[in-house]
Amino acid sequence: MSELTVLAPYMEMISKSPGRPLEEQYMPWNEVSVDYQETYNSISGNSIHPMTRTHIIAMIAIEEDHWRLYHQFYYMTSDPELKRLLAAVRRAEHIHRSRLEYLLDPKSTPLEKAIGLEMQATEYYKLAARLEKNPAAKAAFEFILDEDREHGHLYSVLYELQGHDPKSLTGGLTEFYPRRTLSDEYLIPEATIWMGLTEGCYQREEADPQTLINIDTLIAGERTTYQSYHYYAHFIEDPSQRRLYAQIRRIEEQHNNIHETLYNPHETILERIIHNELTEIWHYRRLMQIEENKFVRSIYQRHYEDELTHSYLFGQLANKY
Ligand SMILES: [Fe+2]
Ligand SMILES: [Fe+2]
Ligand SMILES: [Fe+2]
Ligand SMILES: [Fe+2]
Repeated sequence: MSELTVLAPYMEMISKSPGRPLEEQYMPWNEVSVDYQETYNSISGNSIHPMTRTHIIAMIAIEEDHWRLYHQFYYMTSDPELKRLLAAVRRAEHIHRSRLEYLLDPKSTPLEKAIGLEMQATEYYKLAARLEKNPAAKAAFEFILDEDREHGHLYSVLYELQGHDPKSLTGGLTEFYPRRTLSDEYLIPEATIWMGLTEGCYQREEADPQTLINIDTLIAGERTTYQSYHYYAHFIEDPSQRRLYAQIRRIEEQHNNIHETLYNPHETILERIIHNELTEIWHYRRLMQIEENKFVRSIYQRHYEDELTHSYLFGQLANKY
């Protein structure tokens, strides 16, 4: 099966003309190191809107995941043209990720960051479950949604015990409540092969692009959450908090496994890359429409234009095969 046949549903979505050249996407340091205070300048109360923060966290995860995948694909391909393009685009993705990371409040604690990650998971699983038409994927998203809600609930209880109100972070917009206790969430590793799927939940040539966008989005959040909980462990002294992070981290590992079984394992590197770029385009376009913070929106606009170039360049390469 040629690349073009399986990518046919996506070619329509791939940019037909190059946007900002890659060389112009590499910014000077002062633009990479965004002043996070600007995130707050346009709003009253000197606090970021909980949904603005949630979307930034989601986009950091997506950018981080694509940067990581492009490193893996780099050593898996012997095609010099693809290697060159991966190296060049990876630098742009790494800049995107850096700029987004600098938008977040540097004073937030590991526990506040964890609540932010679970809020992101809850909101993005709800969105994906609403849009998803593939029954196996939708069932997986709804299953995991319950577990991440539980994690948000457990971290919120800890936050309350420390004398803080979780609503100061969530704005009461995301509801965390007990759904499935941690002891019920643990599965034996083989049980994370979702519904026994070994060939993924969709056929390459018939996949709904939204299914790919949903899986790409959610797996990025899971990988970043898993990694973050490992990273935060260095900064936590309280034994009960250390234990909770370890327990929840194991579940995030399971969530990663489930998503990995949803993908069709026969996809080529170039297919995956094009799906990744379309995922970025889809989110930045959506966020440009709903984000109210002008400064943050201007960053999404810029990244969106960069992503159009990425999709165009990888699309050109796919056309050659
Ligand atoms: Fe990007
Ligand atoms: Fe979670
Ligand atoms: Fe999760
Ligand atoms: Fe990109």
